[in-house]
Amino acid sequence: MAPILEIKNLYKSYGSLEILKDINISIDKGDFLVLVGPSGCGKSTLLNCIAGLEDISGGSILIDGHDMTHVSPKDRNIAMVFQSYALYPTMSVAKNITFGMKVRGVDQATQKRKLDEVAKQLQIEQLLNRRPGQLSGGQRQRVAMGRALVRDPKLFLFDEPLSNLDAKLRVEMRSEIKKLHHNLGASMVYVTHDQIEAMTLATKIVVMKSGVLQQVGSPAEIYNRPANLFVADFMGSPAMNLIPAKVTCDASSSRIEIARPDADPLVLVDQSNGDLPEDVIIGLRPEDIVEAGYRSGQNVQTATCHVDMVEPAGADTFVVSHLGGKEVTARLHAETQATPGQDLNFAFDLAKVSYFEPDTGRRLN
Ligand SMILES: Nc1ncnc2c1ncn2[C@@H]1O[C@H](COP(=O)(O)OP(=O)(O)OP(=O)(O)O)[C@@H](O)[C@H]1O
Ligand SMILES: [Mg+2]
Repeated sequence: MAPILEIKNLYKSYGSLEILKDINISIDKGDFLVLVGPSGCGKSTLLNCIAGLEDISGGSILIDGHDMTHVSPKDRNIAMVFQSYALYPTMSVAKNITFGMKVRGVDQATQKRKLDEVAKQLQIEQLLNRRPGQLSGGQRQRVAMGRALVRDPKLFLFDEPLSNLDAKLRVEMRSEIKKLHHNLGASMVYVTHDQIEAMTLATKIVVMKSGVLQQVGSPAEIYNRPANLFVADFMGSPAMNLIPAKVTCDASSSRIEIARPDADPLVLVDQSNGDLPEDVIIGLRPEDIVEAGYRSGQNVQTATCHVDMVEPAGADTFVVSHLGGKEVTARLHAETQATPGQDLNFAFDLAKVSYFEPDTGRRLN
């Protein structure tokens, strides 16, 4: 089966300014692809290129096996939901949803049937006679989704559809979109700069920086095996600890030495990795540094570190220490007795460690 969307060697420039560089992405039917990256990295531009709202400078775009590179947006068989929703303010909700079908000459009976179906699915039946101005943000969002749904497209495109909503509604709509994806088995490309949204919604994540793909993978791959320092730092909150260290290797293990202020270096021994350069940056997520006694395993090492700061956060308490010239965050149970100024015994789970090359940022293990 052909991928539902295939982007090959795509380039996009505005004048002499190169915005997207050699983008290659392939997604299967039913995939939920999330494009994630910092502001200005080219997410919306890429989505607009897929939609055909922007011409591309090089490469090709295939939808369901057909070359759509030079096909007009209305013939690409896609539906797009924008951040601003772009609803017609003077039309009722029902008219907003059916307008596209009317323009395409769909008969009245089919329009009515589709409208009813989608209104039920999105639970907006009671809103059909209102105007967009009489709706809440979340309700407008649903109408915009409804307009996309009645098209039955091959591909749904979403550009930050939740960014205008407050935090609580955002979470609610997020799970509604996830349900919708599940129920429809639809193929979706979804842009966000919110990495939590990316992790919870995606079957596949693309991380971008300055118009260049950094990594493509499942949420678990991106989280557990970030391809470089950028991805490691971008995905996850609090961020992955990235700590400069000196390494001495023998046949099967690595002795990792981390400088500390006013104390001997911290020494950890990775039992499963004997092939590393002398200088590395080690990456450990906060949840992989815990209070000693709460983690066991083959490659768990304990060491005493100075507690500089304690930050209770409800379910967890984050404890900050200084290692390798960096603030390092550990994730402890809420019941921890850790207090600032104390020396505490921590467990470092080296089964979870990532190593990066300091110069290039590239992953080493
Ligand atoms: N019409 C244009 N002409 C010139 N440069 C543009 C144009 N449109 C966008 N850009 C530039 O292209 C880059 C990518 O913009 P884009 O809107 O795709 O970013 P984004 O990742 O969607 O960011 P955000 O998260 O802020 O929405 C930016 O540097 C932007 O300034
Ligand atoms: Mg954007």
